[in-house]
Amino acid sequence: MSKVCIVFDRLRTEEKMLQKEALDLGHDAVMLDAKITQINTDNRKDDFDLGDVVLERCVSYFRGLHFTASLEFLDVPVLNKFEVANVCGNKMFMTLLLKKHNVPTPRTYFSFSSQSALENIEKVGYPLVIKPVIGSWGRGVMPLKDRDTTDAIFEIREITDSPHDRIYYLQEMINRPPRDIRVITIDDRPIAAMYRKSTGGFKTNIALGADPELCEITKEMEDMAAKASQAMGGGILGIDMMEDEKKGLVVHEVNNTVEFKGLARVSKQNIPKEMIEFALQYVRK
Ligand SMILES: Nc1ncnc2c1ncn2[C@@H]1O[C@H](COP(=O)(O)OP(=O)(O)O)[C@@H](O)[C@H]1O
Ligand SMILES: [Mg+2]
Repeated sequence: MSKVCIVFDRLRTEEKMLQKEALDLGHDAVMLDAKITQINTDNRKDDFDLGDVVLERCVSYFRGLHFTASLEFLDVPVLNKFEVANVCGNKMFMTLLLKKHNVPTPRTYFSFSSQSALENIEKVGYPLVIKPVIGSWGRGVMPLKDRDTTDAIFEIREITDSPHDRIYYLQEMINRPPRDIRVITIDDRPIAAMYRKSTGGFKTNIALGADPELCEITKEMEDMAAKASQAMGGGILGIDMMEDEKKGLVVHEVNNTVEFKGLARVSKQNIPKEMIEFALQYVRK
């Protein structure tokens, strides 16, 4: 019998599903609350009940990333690896890696001051999309269609203290149907996919109320998802794609701690089961 440790900060349906699948498969599962766990430089692996492999599932990206660093310090196998979490958590690093690995991705512009971002916009024109380099659930992702909106958004950024607000990540607005595609990959292998259909707004995040609808994984999606996963360093990932009117499929995001509640509702695959099986096979390798 093996033991899986699920690290969380808020117990969502996903974490409970993972725990249940581990138990149903005849393994042991421990739930570890990152918020009340203390680690010091003299700690050893055996000071904790971490099982054979850890699934890091914190909602807070920074909490999860730093917790992962301490687990790797203790030489505990953790999914996803620190390096993978690190690049997926920052949209700029992620976009650069996708492009470097020849994964089709929207054209993205990086500037390091509001003045320089404005100069770039004068050159490339509207419409654009601005995104915080760190963030999820569509928070802070905004369409930029004119100078007035841009000035307002940039002015707010100027008066905040967030270091990440100094980084201007602007992207071409993709002409697409009112949906995007989420592919879950495990070890570079797509296991399930859904369309996320907007219920009105510009963004298609499930967290914002988009409807999940099963999506047949085409060969093109499969290849693209595998390549995007490899570019990040593998593990358990959520690859997001849009259907550009002219360019075809483009990958706009790779998610590190993937939510799968919506997809589990419509998919025939047992997603949490596949994740647990992979985690255990990962430590046996
Ligand atoms: N370049 C773009 N063109 C059109 N729509 C976009 C673009 N980038 C993002 N979106 C929409 O906004 C949503 C959120 O953007 P995303 O980059 O996935 O950020 P988050 O990490 O917050 O989910 C996407 O799911 C998509 O619906
Ligand atoms: Mg997204």
